[in-house]
Amino acid sequence: MSTVRFSRFGFILAAVGSAVGLGNIWKFPYVTGEYGGGAFVLVYLITALFIGIFVLIAELLIGKLGQSDAVSMFENLATKKKNLWKYAGFMAIVPLIILSYYSVVIGWIFHYIVVSFQSLPSNIEESKNIFMTLLTTDLQTQFMYHTIVFVLVTSIILKGVKDGIERINKILMPLLALILSILFVYSLSVESFSKAVTFMFNPDFTKLSSEAVIVAIGQAFYTLSLGMGIIITYAASLPKHVNIVKSSLIIAVIDTSVAIIAGLIIFTLLFDKGAESTKGAGLVFISLPSVFYEFGSIGTFLAILFFIAIAFAGITSAISMLEPMVSFFVNRFNYTRLKAALICSLFFYILGIAALLSNITDYSPVLMIGSKNLFDWLDFVASTILVPLGGILVVVFVGHFMDENKINAELIPLLGKTITKVWFFMVRYIIPIALILVILNETGIFKF
Ligand code: PHE
Repeated sequence: MSTVRFSRFGFILAAVGSAVGLGNIWKFPYVTGEYGGGAFVLVYLITALFIGIFVLIAELLIGKLGQSDAVSMFENLATKKKNLWKYAGFMAIVPLIILSYYSVVIGWIFHYIVVSFQSLPSNIEESKNIFMTLLTTDLQTQFMYHTIVFVLVTSIILKGVKDGIERINKILMPLLALILSILFVYSLSVESFSKAVTFMFNPDFTKLSSEAVIVAIGQAFYTLSLGMGIIITYAASLPKHVNIVKSSLIIAVIDTSVAIIAGLIIFTLLFDKGAESTKGAGLVFISLPSVFYEFGSIGTFLAILFFIAIAFAGITSAISMLEPMVSFFVNRFNYTRLKAALICSLFFYILGIAALLSNITDYSPVLMIGSKNLFDWLDFVASTILVPLGGILVVVFVGHFMDENKINAELIPLLGKTITKVWFFMVRYIIPIALILVILNETGIFKF
């Protein structure tokens, strides 16, 4: 492993940069809407804070003790079956698959920054039209933005952990915090803010299905970038004296707060104009633009800030998705960073082009597999099946295949004996079962 390391602050920022992404600002509000508001938020908070922090600690432990790339760390740290465990490290391919379409979505966001500057749609029909035109016919625009994202993230990754990843996070994350604060303060002044608070924090348990619980667990993993070798890889570049428990807490609390704040902002604006809360994936790209329009000239300003914020959040996440495989090639095969970055970036770039083509009407028939097109398949397989699967591998590995004494030596001074035992129990038994339930539910093998 290279000797270049994050600074302590740089590490936290980079991990938060990875965690805070489209999942927080785009996905969290719409699943909250779909699964009934307050009760879902409560379950999500509990799972993100408990399961999330426990698994974050597990991933930070692997990185801190392993000090290498994901594949080598699983191989070196396994007390038995090393040869098999190294394959677990290939979970690092999952974020590259996610990045293929994530990059396309960041491209849409870039497009919406431009749309906000030019003219926002004046009603929902027009808004739908703009989005569907972009999605199903505008190959050129999507291709152009996807290419811009490709060039951008590759050039940052090329510069390495400190001058690339840490640096960009130090610029974008404070700006993101500033923009979200401005939007939040504005939404405080809007009358419907209290409605949004009630919607998000007044749990109506009759609306809570067991499926919602399962979805909340899946969302907690996705939003914290767990189960993909990302946090593991970042943690391998941790500076020496870092309290991994405190770091996990900070990462999870900031990530969760951003999701809640984004939710409050979005629901305040929607409720103020009488728009619906359950708008599925179109919430940000269809409902919000026309709501911004109704706010007049301040709305244009809010829209620009809002889309810039999501773009920043998306870019810092995108960078984190590249790093695990890049570090694998550099470390295992002694590739230069340039060669490794190009291989990984071209992989996601080309797959991303296929994904975006699958939404274009002229090409979609060729890229349909069964009931879904390639874009939706990639999202489904990667984020709903492979991410929880990666999570299972992490907890089973840490709970059953790593040297318990080494783990105790790290955790007991930080957590004390009893809580370390609770952590082991969760990691060994409860979390794997919870994740199996997530997969069964998502694949429809067993619906809750
Ligand atoms: N955690 C990111 C988000 O919430 C998503 C992500 C997925 C990041 C995969 C890295 C890897 O948007």
